[in-house]
Amino acid sequence: YPLQALNTFGITAQAAAYVRISSTSQLQAALQEPALAGMPRLILGGGSNIVLTGDFAGAVLHMATRGMRLAQASFDTILVTAAAGENWHAFVQWTLAQGVGGLENLSLIPGTVGAAPIQNIGAYGVEIKDVLHSVSVLHAASGIVFDMDRDACRFGYRDSIFKQADGAELIVLEVTFALPAQWQPNLRYAELAQAVAEQQLANPSAQQVADTVIAIRRRKLPDPAVIGNAGSFFKNPVVSKEYCAQLLERYPALVHHAQPDGSEKLAAGWLIDQCGWKGRNLGPAGVYPRQALVLVNNGGARGADITGLAEAIRKDVEARYGVLLSPEPVFV
Ligand code: EPU
Repeated sequence: YPLQALNTFGITAQAAAYVRISSTSQLQAALQEPALAGMPRLILGGGSNIVLTGDFAGAVLHMATRGMRLAQASFDTILVTAAAGENWHAFVQWTLAQGVGGLENLSLIPGTVGAAPIQNIGAYGVEIKDVLHSVSVLHAASGIVFDMDRDACRFGYRDSIFKQADGAELIVLEVTFALPAQWQPNLRYAELAQAVAEQQLANPSAQQVADTVIAIRRRKLPDPAVIGNAGSFFKNPVVSKEYCAQLLERYPALVHHAQPDGSEKLAAGWLIDQCGWKGRNLGPAGVYPRQALVLVNNGGARGADITGLAEAIRKDVEARYGVLLSPEPVFV
């Protein structure tokens, strides 16, 4: 089964089997199907955070479940729920159309609702863990369906239980967010605050904040429908305060943000940019000219082209700054 149209990098690869999943019962049936049971499985959403390194000798279960709903849970909290297969951005837009704010900073992130908790998607000062209420999951081995609260998801920066061995059997069915009935804009991210201020809006609405985020993202990030990519290819590395101070002596312009635990998060895009990689190509794989953190498929790239470029970048950044970059997408 061809996977090129199912991954935003646009990498050509084949899967041994493919099932489109439109309901929980269909998912349970697929998991019990003898022909599929012995194979590795790949739960696929929008395919926006994977690198296909070759053909997949297993079954792709493509989550295509639908449904969105909203309930006032208390005077100050609204619960919004969406099925795993819903498109993330369409869901955010739907909440805004219902008059419910809280997800607008996460506008235009590619992918599905079901993929959002896996890597704890985040942008412009909000991570999903800040607004998540619970995740309904199916335990693949037993077929049992249950709810996990936020703590059970063990969220970290671009991380959760769903990326760890403990979560290997868990398939996300639905995600519920707890959003405020009395909305306030979250403008802690300097670039967003500045872009909102420039519009001189006295009281920006959630939709106006969303539109501002959309404009920033369109300016900096390539549209996967036009040029293959998986968003940020590397996580922003975290180093000790002491090491950050050493680096600052040699590189005073180093971009760094203090973390609550005293460590410092560096901007991987800045490190890569400084190493001269921005806009450079290695065969059909390249570094996006407007954001060094994004690797792109300029046409016809295979998984090995992308991973080869990533390796070359990692080596350079390590040699110059002594910092090891870890990839953000999942390698299949
Ligand atoms: N920078 C450079 N050169 C570059 C890119 C960035 O010098 O080529 C500098 C910028 O000037 C800025 C700093 O690096 O000072 C950070 O850049 P930016 O604000 O664009 O954010 P980021 O750290 O590159 C992260 C997320 C994005 C998210 C933005 C906004 C990660 C891995 N990436 O990027 O998430 O949209 O912040 O919140 O945490 C994604 O995960 O796919 C993604 C796009």
